[in-house]
Amino acid sequence: MDNETLTITDNRTQQTYTIPISRGTIRAMDLRKIKTGPEDFGLMTYDPAFMNTASCQSAVTFLDGEKGILRYRGYPIEQLAEHCTFLEVAYLLLQGELPTSDELANWNCEIGHHMMIHENIKKFMDGFNHDAHPMSILMSTVAALSTFYPEARTVSDAKVRRKQVIRLIAKMPTLAAYAYRHRLGLPYIYPDPELTYAQNYMNMLWRRTEPKYVANPVLARALEVLFILHADHEQNCSTNTMRAVGSSTADPYSTAAAAIAALSGPLHGGANEEVLRMLAEIGTKANIAGFIAQVKDGKRKLMGFGHRVYKNYDPRARIIKQVASEVFEVTGRNPKIDIAMELEKIALSDEYFIKRKLYPNVDFYSGIIYEAMGFKPEQFTVLFGIPRTAGWLAQWQELLQDPEQKIARPRQVYIGEERRDFIPIEERALAAAAIA
Ligand code: CMC
Repeated sequence: MDNETLTITDNRTQQTYTIPISRGTIRAMDLRKIKTGPEDFGLMTYDPAFMNTASCQSAVTFLDGEKGILRYRGYPIEQLAEHCTFLEVAYLLLQGELPTSDELANWNCEIGHHMMIHENIKKFMDGFNHDAHPMSILMSTVAALSTFYPEARTVSDAKVRRKQVIRLIAKMPTLAAYAYRHRLGLPYIYPDPELTYAQNYMNMLWRRTEPKYVANPVLARALEVLFILHADHEQNCSTNTMRAVGSSTADPYSTAAAAIAALSGPLHGGANEEVLRMLAEIGTKANIAGFIAQVKDGKRKLMGFGHRVYKNYDPRARIIKQVASEVFEVTGRNPKIDIAMELEKIALSDEYFIKRKLYPNVDFYSGIIYEAMGFKPEQFTVLFGIPRTAGWLAQWQELLQDPEQKIARPRQVYIGEERRDFIPIEERALAAAAIA
């Protein structure tokens, strides 16, 4: 459209500029030509925390936060959660299309083949303290994979990239399960390629002396659905980290380790662990009002609430609530769900939350299900990281194939000292006193 432009008048110079608009976006570099004179660097935008800046064009995930819509490669999350396996969704994210049955069989087989980890990894896992956080172990062991696959550094080679993608998706549950068993001092269990992705993870976590682990089908399916819901979420903090580190053409293991570090924070993936601690602290419905009052006073945060992009109910939280009731049929009801639901009810009718459009996010209910299934809170973020690896890798592939992308390197607005001369150490106290 001809009128898809923006006209800007610079009041400093009275000059007018016309800038193209594409998909509701202007290119920041187009602002550079807005100058007060030839010596001027040109106009920049200042956007701490990327509140209004698109860092890439992506065809992986669509999210409409106002309407509460989430789609992977165009498919609504609700349909994928109902009909797919996690590996099918991982294939979709990475390849752009749902697999045919042959393609899926082949993909499952490739992933199954790469689930084992080098025996040496077990040895250095033994070096971690028994109480090391599972996310810290996961981050370190994923980074360490780069020492086992030095060819992974050749990220320009599509074949090499594909091999590492398969290895990472395949080995994440194994590393995560070993980290868990290390904590408990239990022997490590090898993956069983006959099982599904989720069943296999459960096998490596919980198998004791039985010759073959048989997962409860309802719980295995619930885990598979939770994995699907967590598989990608466009440019969130950890995905942005994956892209930023990946843009330096670092190997995918080091890059994924950086993404895991970002995910571990309580404002991001670490929120699910914090929600459980918060619910435990609240303890009974009678304490909810007092807790909400503290939140409104700015003394606390209601963990599992709020989102940078969703200003409506997170569609993943809606699906998770359904999964919860299926899981509780098997495990018995986790009493924390009643506190969570009451908390949600009170929050959603309170002016503070309504005004700020704060709704439950994916982390609000997931931990309650994980706990009912037998996971400890410190494992919850690992359960987020395993499936998110597929999304990170899809975005990493897209980045490396995007001719517009370069090393990620933001600008800054410098607010420090002007040039000043060095002061010898013996004169500094005197100089400081003179200023004071
Ligand atoms: N409890 C109480 N107040 C909140 C909360 C909350 N959970 N979240 C946001 N607010 C308030 C915030 O104080 C601010 O109020 P005011 O305008 O008076 O200053 C307003 O709502 C806007 O919040 P913001 O911090 O500017 O929003 P943001 O986009 O920078 O932060 C967030 C998004 C997810 C970090 C934040 O909502 C939060 O800290 N939530 C709790 C942690 C959490 O559940 N994180 C998981 C996010 S979803 C999954 C994932 O990404 O991993």
